[in-house]
Amino acid sequence: MKISIKDSKESDFSCDALILPFIEDTSGSYDKLGLSLSKLIRKVFSKEFHGNPNEVFLIPSPDDFRPGRILFAGLGKKGEISSEQVRQAGGKAAVYLRNMGMQRIALSTGLLSSLDVSPADFVEGALLGLYTFKRYIQEKDKKEIASLVVLAKNTNELRARLHFVEVVSSAVCSARDLINTPANDMTPTHLAQAARSLRGKNLSVKVLERRDAEKLDMGSYISVAKGSKEPPKFIVLEYRGAKGPPFVLIGKSITFDSGGISLKPADGMEKMKYDMAGGAAVLGVIKAISELALPFHIIGLLPATENLIGGSAAKPGDVVRAINGKSIEIISTDAEGRMALADAIGYARRFNPRAIIDIATLTGACSIAFGNVAIAMMGNDRELLDKIKRSGDNVNERVWEMPLFKEYKEYIKSDIADLKNSGGKSGSLISSAYFLSEFAGDIPWVHLDIAGTAWQEKERPYSPKGASGVGVRLITNLIKELK
Ligand code: BES
Ligand code: MN
Ligand code: ZN
Repeated sequence: MKISIKDSKESDFSCDALILPFIEDTSGSYDKLGLSLSKLIRKVFSKEFHGNPNEVFLIPSPDDFRPGRILFAGLGKKGEISSEQVRQAGGKAAVYLRNMGMQRIALSTGLLSSLDVSPADFVEGALLGLYTFKRYIQEKDKKEIASLVVLAKNTNELRARLHFVEVVSSAVCSARDLINTPANDMTPTHLAQAARSLRGKNLSVKVLERRDAEKLDMGSYISVAKGSKEPPKFIVLEYRGAKGPPFVLIGKSITFDSGGISLKPADGMEKMKYDMAGGAAVLGVIKAISELALPFHIIGLLPATENLIGGSAAKPGDVVRAINGKSIEIISTDAEGRMALADAIGYARRFNPRAIIDIATLTGACSIAFGNVAIAMMGNDRELLDKIKRSGDNVNERVWEMPLFKEYKEYIKSDIADLKNSGGKSGSLISSAYFLSEFAGDIPWVHLDIAGTAWQEKERPYSPKGASGVGVRLITNLIKELK
């Protein structure tokens, strides 16, 4: 969908449908657009349409209007209209018009500006909401919106905001594509290829093969790959938008998690293709930041592998050694995410980073605690934790902090090794993060568990069923606001 700005009167702009946002129970917002329109509005207001949040209603336009149709889009009560509400209205309105077969649409922005929200939020909701994943479906649904024209003064600020939401939404949608792609196609090799395709000015990608990881003594990560025929790929991206120590972003990239010898139940196992959602989010963030040419030095690490069963798979009870020399007793081969992340965090230390953020579909306990609503967050740096919290509130990818009390160390003490990879189900949301903290040491580090939020069973106003692409907007916004 092409986005553009045009300083035109609503009644003069020729298109298939014009979107008019409305405040709840306020029918008079468009009286200055002429009597014919206000008459129509009053015919439906408080009957078929009220302006409730995410409510939409389509009418044929008055004879003296050039747009063919007019879509009323509800924003809710005046004092409660946030940028999140506007994003949701944008998603709802765009999806509705797409499904009605509209191709050229326009947005009236006067009301939004008077409410001090940006039309770019509405556009962001539309771009994210219109996402579809049709790669494996032969019979294509042809309905697609070709253009959205924002009817407003063409200012630098509006142009910049629209550019930002376009770049970031496209990064979210690429992450969704990677996650939705089934594991037979989204192998570690394919993921590495997707990373390489981002290469460009200031952005380099290298891929460590199994033998490289062995040479680096990544015994923990390599143990996860032992049951699979697909070669593991430890993907390293570097974006140099500035000098100085980097931020390291690490994404869990298990392209399929069967549980290994500690096999998962069959029911729902097909969903474990989304166990690389953290890695996809990191690729999305780096894609967005490099396209925006933001002045930061970022390293992305994706320790990619499958977690399968087989004659050479790791077994419960095995002891392996991670890159930092720590020995780990494998209690459950299904606690594989932390095994891969441990070596990635250990590897990250060599860059002398400003901070490490890891993002991972790490525990079932996360989705039991938070459902599909919040990301679980833990870490060792108050300032970074607070900044991530704020960023999450801004973009509505909300995080909630859990405590890393030192008592959790007991949970991962092994009788025969330095650590064990599982302390059992009880407390596992936190004990798994505690395990990672042992590898971060004193480097500022935050862990984000997206097991509950990375996949949606139900559609939302601006994200369809399936992969949500969560984390891309959260981390891109965080970095943008850093000094
Ligand atoms: N990938 C899973 C976590 C997961 C579960 C993500 C459901 C999304 C939805 C992870 O590798 C895992 O299996 N975790 C185990 C750890 C346990 C063995 C300590 C879990 O949470 O059950
Ligand atoms: Mn697992
Ligand atoms: Zn997993």
